[in-house]
Amino acid sequence: PDLPGLDIVIFGGTGDLSIRKLMPALYRSELEGKLAAATRIFAIARKSQAVAAFQAKVRQGLEHYLNDGELCEKRWQVFKDRLHPVSLDIAAVNEQWDSFADQLQASPQSTAVFYLAIPPSLYGQTCACLAEKSLISPQSRIVLEKPIGYDLESAQAINDQVAQHFDEHHIYRIDHYLGKATVQNLLALRFTNLLFETLWDGKSIDQVQITLAETVGLEDRVEFYDRAGALRDMVQNHLLQLLCLVAMEPPHKLDAENIRAEKLKVLKALRPITGDDIHRLTVRGQYGEGEVNGAPVPGYLTELSAESKTETYAAIRAHIDNWRWAGVPFYLRTGKRLQERFAEIVIQFKPVTHLAYGRAAGQLQPNRMIIRLQPDEGIQLQLMAKELHRYEPHLKPVTLNLDFANTYEGFSSDAYKRLLLDVIAGDQSLFAHRHEVEEAWGWLDPILAAWHHPRNTPHPYQAGSWGPEQADALLERYGHHWVNPDPA
Ligand code: BG6
Repeated sequence: PDLPGLDIVIFGGTGDLSIRKLMPALYRSELEGKLAAATRIFAIARKSQAVAAFQAKVRQGLEHYLNDGELCEKRWQVFKDRLHPVSLDIAAVNEQWDSFADQLQASPQSTAVFYLAIPPSLYGQTCACLAEKSLISPQSRIVLEKPIGYDLESAQAINDQVAQHFDEHHIYRIDHYLGKATVQNLLALRFTNLLFETLWDGKSIDQVQITLAETVGLEDRVEFYDRAGALRDMVQNHLLQLLCLVAMEPPHKLDAENIRAEKLKVLKALRPITGDDIHRLTVRGQYGEGEVNGAPVPGYLTELSAESKTETYAAIRAHIDNWRWAGVPFYLRTGKRLQERFAEIVIQFKPVTHLAYGRAAGQLQPNRMIIRLQPDEGIQLQLMAKELHRYEPHLKPVTLNLDFANTYEGFSSDAYKRLLLDVIAGDQSLFAHRHEVEEAWGWLDPILAAWHHPRNTPHPYQAGSWGPEQADALLERYGHHWVNPDPA
């Protein structure tokens, strides 16, 4: 393999994220021959676990989360031998840490990737323990899961604590949405095709919509989710990062330094939403019982078995105050227990300035570019064309479709694999700089504060719907509507 050989140390290594996402991603890297022969994978957890039991747990996870045909016995044997469960209490530097340090340092590898799949409140302490045991070398890398903190102040505190031990060049703040195949193609699309870049501004674009809709509810993350809510869980990171990639100026080079600098400028240009604007421009919802994919599901409070005002849905009308985007609304929304699982960026263009065909030829629909992140990754261009079989001129919408699964042979996308390989390769382009994370919190803080004021309550919506009706009304006030997938 041409990537450097590093040990991988996952804190929270037996937890949900590790089993569901990280192990499959590492296993896929193994399949592709991207892991160096000496690379070991340490899974740190408080509870001790026998090697064989841990390997069996990972194997079970792979069987469940990999696609059919991906699990190969020969490769599994190699991968399995890399796995080492380690029992450690992050809260106390004790003899367990000594024996882990011995294990880690016994290898010919010179350095490690430390992946923190644990609550952010433990990031500082974990770094301090690693430092105390001299486990941080100048090449060590640390990966931080989102959300970093729960507001600007706590994010700054966490970033400060980590910065005491790791240089910003070695800190990888992961946002798995940036590892999705279509998101990377968005950059290629924008910056290698004159066609789009010349139309990419408020002169041609009428509005942008970014939707991250999920059908799942709380899953097993009750405690985390109820403290976080949709704004912290999805908007602060995934949605704002996608907005940055759509809106940023072309970087002079597509490397980490330049991409991050351009993204930061977008975040700084976001128009603050404060005071009365919070009620005018944002909508917060919480699902009640309903039906998703034909099956009845309980409401949020029933799932939680407690009272709560945590939002499971968020919609925002945002503006970017710069030359390129003046006057263009960016509609952001995300929610759990919505009608369908889909993630899309819709770029809607302005109408043509003159109706040469006249009204009798049918209503013109605006051109749209739809960048679909999931499911069925692809890029669509919606255009108007002439209906061919009619004598009199009649127009109809048609779609040009770049469907990744049909276009790229053997296409399968695993955002975590892509990003883990980037960490090993030392490429930070798809990871957030601390300034971005803090700028995003700074923009959201007033909204968070208003939403969580005891007098405010989220709007209810039925599970299996498209969210609270207030979110539709938000767009209707401006003559717009949400673009939802066509009913199947
Ligand atoms: C995570 C959120 O970051 O993204 C989850 O914490 C959410 O609440 C998940 O379900 C969605 O990711 P994906 O890739 O399944 O769309």
